[in-house]
Amino acid sequence: MDDKGRRGARHAYTGKSIIIEPTSGNTGIALAGMAKILGYAVEIVIPEEASEETKQIIRNLGAQVYETSDDLCPKVGVGTDQSIALATSIASSRPHIYYSPNQYANEANFMGHYKGTGPEIWAQTAGKVTHLFTGVGTGGAITGIGTYLKERNPDVKIIGCQPQQDHLIQGWRNFEESAKPDLFLKREEVVDDWVHVDNEEAFSRVGEILANDRLLVSPSSATVYACMDKYNVLEGACVVGIFADDGRKFRSVYSDLGVMSNDEFDSALEGAMHVSVPDYE
Ligand SMILES: Cc1ncc(COP(=O)(O)O)c(C=O)c1O
Repeated sequence: MDDKGRRGARHAYTGKSIIIEPTSGNTGIALAGMAKILGYAVEIVIPEEASEETKQIIRNLGAQVYETSDDLCPKVGVGTDQSIALATSIASSRPHIYYSPNQYANEANFMGHYKGTGPEIWAQTAGKVTHLFTGVGTGGAITGIGTYLKERNPDVKIIGCQPQQDHLIQGWRNFEESAKPDLFLKREEVVDDWVHVDNEEAFSRVGEILANDRLLVSPSSATVYACMDKYNVLEGACVVGIFADDGRKFRSVYSDLGVMSNDEFDSALEGAMHVSVPDYE
């Protein structure tokens, strides 16, 4: 949104400018929150399989939510007819009203990580980082962070985490069942290696991370942890993993999958050291 504004093309808010975006959740929450502050209307197109809590947060922030029978991460490419196609079709039919950032192709997504997350990791590790692990939804994080770190030190290894096909990891895509987004394709050579993790391996780590580190993490963060844990690195390596999300939005998912009961979730939430309570809940 900021990028569009800088380029002088942002619609003046006249009561009829609407932001529309396909998302598996987090971008929808961010856009809805920013739009609320800036005074835009927002419509979010999201797979129905995204957690109920995710959809409710977006609604609570005032956005209109459309649900599609998509994979957990909206599919991209030819022949996909769900979240992305619906958002594109609504937006293109009334271009004077709708603006879609299109995170799957928007260079500002890459730049946010290239200028923000990458330098943050470099500074926090005092340049010692040797390996970076993250999942891929749009590819913005892995290409943006990866490009920056390799510019600083070409030996840094960028490792992509791949969930199984038909996975339950909100925000991620498996490249055997979903095409690669344009943003990822532009710089996919930045990835040195891939690690595969199935649903069971991923969800089994949620309780372990809670017990060991008092962190209540999301399925995606637990998957990154599982990938890091099974990847061989030499002694002295400085390994960074992106935990892009905490566990708050996954109470119902954890309960349905038997990861933890609602009571266990509530006490985990109480004891978790990283969780603050935002005012939209
Ligand atoms: C919840 C979540 N969403 C999305 C992503 C992927 O980010 P990107 O869309 O930049 O590829 C991750 C990466 O770990 C994630 O954990």
